[in-house]
Amino acid sequence: MGSVNPHEPLVLGIETSCDETGVGIVRGHTLLADAVASSVDEHARFGGVVPEVASRAHLEAMVPMIERACETAGVRPYDVDAIAVTSGPGLAGALLVGVAAAKALAIGLGKPIYGVNHLAAHVAVDQLEHGALPEPCLALLVSGGHSSLLRVEDVTSGVDPLGSTIDDAAGEAFDKVARLLGLPFPGGPYIDRAAREGQVTIDFPRGLTSRRDLERHRFDFSFSGLKTAVARWVETQQRDGGAIDVSDVAASFQEAVCDVLVRKALDAAGDQGIEDVLIGGGVAANSRLRSMATERAESKGIRVRVPRPALCTDNGAMVAALGTELVARGRAPSALDLPADSSQPLTEVVA
Ligand code: KG4
Ligand code: ZN
Repeated sequence: MGSVNPHEPLVLGIETSCDETGVGIVRGHTLLADAVASSVDEHARFGGVVPEVASRAHLEAMVPMIERACETAGVRPYDVDAIAVTSGPGLAGALLVGVAAAKALAIGLGKPIYGVNHLAAHVAVDQLEHGALPEPCLALLVSGGHSSLLRVEDVTSGVDPLGSTIDDAAGEAFDKVARLLGLPFPGGPYIDRAAREGQVTIDFPRGLTSRRDLERHRFDFSFSGLKTAVARWVETQQRDGGAIDVSDVAASFQEAVCDVLVRKALDAAGDQGIEDVLIGGGVAANSRLRSMATERAESKGIRVRVPRPALCTDNGAMVAALGTELVARGRAPSALDLPADSSQPLTEVVA
C-alpha cells in the first residue's frame, strides 16, 4: 500500500446488489477498509440466491458493516467526501437496502451521493491493486449475473459493450455444473479447487467459436450448450455404470470456459488495438482463468491485470474505488431521490 495522500478524495462505498453486504472505504487509490458480510450460507440449500433472504440479511448486516469499516479505516463518517452506492444492476430488493442506507448517510452527514453501476465498479476496483487504469483498456467482466467484453475509455464516463453472453453468465455456468457434480453453492470456488486435483480429459464444446458463429457473435459468449454437454456426459457415464471423476470433469469444464473467455478477450483487444486487458467479477477469482490469461496474453504482447480474488467477488471497496474516481474527476453526483435500478444499463455509470 502506498502512502495516503490526504488531499485525495475519501469515499465510503456500499454494495448490496446480490448476497454480499459490503462497505468499503477508499482514499484515492488506497484501500482503507473492506468489510463484507455474506448471506451465502443461507442460500446454499436452495442452490441459488433467494432475493427476499438476501434483502433481510442486508438489513441486518448494514449498520455493523458501516461501523466495522469506519473502525478499520480509522475514519469517522463525517470525514468522508462522498457516499457511493451500487444503484444497479442487481436484485431490486437487495439494491434498495443499500440505496436507502446510502441516502440516510448522505442526508444525515450532508455529503453528496453517487449511485453507481455495479459493473463499472468491478472494473474500477483494480485501481486499488495496480494503480490508475490504462486508458483505454479492454475489460472482461465475468460474474454470476454477467459476462461481457467492454471497451473502457474512462470508467467514470461510460463503457462501450463489445459483446456479452447470449444465455448463461460464466459464473452461472460454474454454479449449475457444480450442482450437477454434487458440489456446494456457489460452485465456482469448489470447481476451481476440484479442478486442481484433476486432468483435462474431456473435450467439452467451446460455445460460439465456430467460423459461422464468429461471423455474428465474435465477442459474445454462450455457456448453456457447455452446461448441457457436461450433463449429458455425466448421464451417459451413470447409465453405462462408469465412474465419474469429479476432478477431471471439473478441470475439463473449467478449461472450456476459460479457453473461450481468454480467446475472445484477446481477440477483442487485438481488434480494438488495446494492449491492456483487465479481468473482473467473481469468476476472475478463478485460478485457471488467471494463469491462462496471463500466459496467452504475454505471447501477444498484451498486459493482463486481475485484482486479487477478494476484490474480484462483490465488495464495498469496489464501489468506493469508483466513487473516489468520480469525485477526483469532478463528475456530478446523483440526485438524492435516485432510484435503485435493477437493470441499470452499462452505459450509465452514475444513476
Ligand atoms: O461478482 P460476484 O461476486 O457476484 C455477481 O455480481 O454475480 O460473482 C459471483 C460468481 C458466482 O457464480 C461464483 O460461482 C463465481 O463468481 N466465482 C468463481 C470463483 N469464485 C467465485 N467462479 C470460478 N472460480 C472461482 N474461483
Ligand atoms: Zn458482481
